[in-house]
Amino acid sequence: MPALYRMGYKESIDPAKLPLHVAVIMDGNGRWAKQRGEHRITGHQNGVKAVRETTEAAAEIGVKYLTLYAFSTENWNRPKEEVLALMQLLVSTIHGEVETLNKNDIRLMAIGDLKSLPQDCIRELTEAMKATAQNKRMNLILALSYSSRWEIIEGIKCIVEAVEKGQLKAEEISEKKFESYLCTAGIPEPELMIRTSGEHRISNFLLWQLSYSELYFTDTLWPDFGKEDFYEAIVDYQGRERRFGKISEQIEN
Ligand code: IPE
Ligand code: IPE
Ligand code: MG
Repeated sequence: MPALYRMGYKESIDPAKLPLHVAVIMDGNGRWAKQRGEHRITGHQNGVKAVRETTEAAAEIGVKYLTLYAFSTENWNRPKEEVLALMQLLVSTIHGEVETLNKNDIRLMAIGDLKSLPQDCIRELTEAMKATAQNKRMNLILALSYSSRWEIIEGIKCIVEAVEKGQLKAEEISEKKFESYLCTAGIPEPELMIRTSGEHRISNFLLWQLSYSELYFTDTLWPDFGKEDFYEAIVDYQGRERRFGKISEQIEN
């Protein structure tokens, strides 16, 4: 080992303090392309590598759930060509990654208004989810045509319907009950949320689920985000004290 060997972030991770669930807002593809004088789509294409790297990085250290915000409800308002290109990229990427997901024992899941996606996208997604359904090492959850306000309203509609049908009583509605009506039912809430590209906002992502998550922001644009960047975020997270309203002394004991 050379004398100047510096420990990487991966080696600094405490396996006993791993987040079970990490959520990521993958942002900055457009700016990455613009810096290079390329079309925004080139940025999205280059973002696929970062998706692969992040997925592998998370699986390697033992994260159990990785949620990636890939397309928001609001993203439908982008120029038509960009939306179309993103949907095509989604189809080809999912199609191309199924084999690797299976090899790495990773299960693909999705949250969002999936019905609103183009037919070929729904088909590819459904097939990939079926083909990986038995995988156990990690769950990769794509947020597609997702927004948290949409999710919460959908949940409320189902709750009201259940109440109207007499299947649920108002006094039975608890936080736990409410969570069972969200897209993320059965998935633990993220301990850590990462957003790339220097934007400091949530953009309608997992508003309920992020209530007590640690937030991590990096200026790195999504296509440049790699394994070590992910591990750096984990190390930062592990240095924090999560108090959940209590005081420091209560946490130490
Ligand atoms: C994130 O990158 C990808 C999606 C939202 C689909 P952007 O496309 O938002 O990139 P910027 O923010 O314009 O740089
Ligand atoms: C959030 O990124 C959505 C995704 C990463 C899919 P945006 O780039 O769309 O967010 P805003 O609109 O700038 O907040
Ligand atoms: Mg953006």
